[in-house]
Amino acid sequence: MTQESMERVLHTEWMAEKIFWRNSVDSTLIWAKEEADFCLGENLKSALFLADKQTAGKGRLGRVWNSPAGENVYMTLLLLKPPVEPVKASSLTLVMGLSVAQAVRDITGISAGIKWPNDVVAAGKKICGILTEMKIRGEKAEYVSIGVGINMNQREFPEELQDKATSLALELGCEVVREEITAGVVERFEKNYELFLEKQDLQSLREEYERLLLNKDRQVRILEKEKESIGIARGITPAGELLVEDENGAVRQVLSGEVSVRGLYSYV
Ligand code: BTN
Repeated sequence: MTQESMERVLHTEWMAEKIFWRNSVDSTLIWAKEEADFCLGENLKSALFLADKQTAGKGRLGRVWNSPAGENVYMTLLLLKPPVEPVKASSLTLVMGLSVAQAVRDITGISAGIKWPNDVVAAGKKICGILTEMKIRGEKAEYVSIGVGINMNQREFPEELQDKATSLALELGCEVVREEITAGVVERFEKNYELFLEKQDLQSLREEYERLLLNKDRQVRILEKEKESIGIARGITPAGELLVEDENGAVRQVLSGEVSVRGLYSYV
């Protein structure tokens, strides 16, 4: 993959108007943050940062994101001065999860689904993780950076990930073209983000998100900081919280921040 090969296949109207590419970075999220002032100076609305390898890939909840060279895609989509209230920006993680699941399904035929809030899963294992960061100035978001790691052509995983992670190539039985999937994700994100902006929430995307939500109507274990609870996931709110029904039929809303959701006996 090169910057040029990526530019050739990406067909967006305005999303990712500039593409940055490097062989190796610490983390595309850190790199995008370093370049944010430059992008603001150029009046860009959005830029895409791609790397072949990360030496300090960041995962959710302070974890490390395994980022070997030559096989996967590590990208950060930077949205500059997005017209989104800071409290709503975390919903963009769900918009991205939906876009990845759609692109993978449409392009590869793999029946990928979403594990709330933003893991994309195939055959019960994770193929994509998303981490969103934001810088606020005054009352407004100066930028939102959405970091996406998709396991594309990786065939071997460290032992601790073997029962939790898979890749498109493993599920498909052949290699995928990384540019094609990456472009497909960004193109779908552009459309989904525009729908999000119209109502400033997930209302217009909710039906499609819930159609691909693997947790829907299944038992989930919610691991919060101090407590653990069990319920049945019923869907999401327009703000992206998970609706969880307890044994008495009461439904509560779970915020995505510091929680992990698991199936009762497996990862989903
Ligand atoms: C998760 O833990 O599920 C989120 C993983 C996010 C990984 C991606 S890879 C590209 C971007 N840069 C990072 O350092 N992390 C994100």
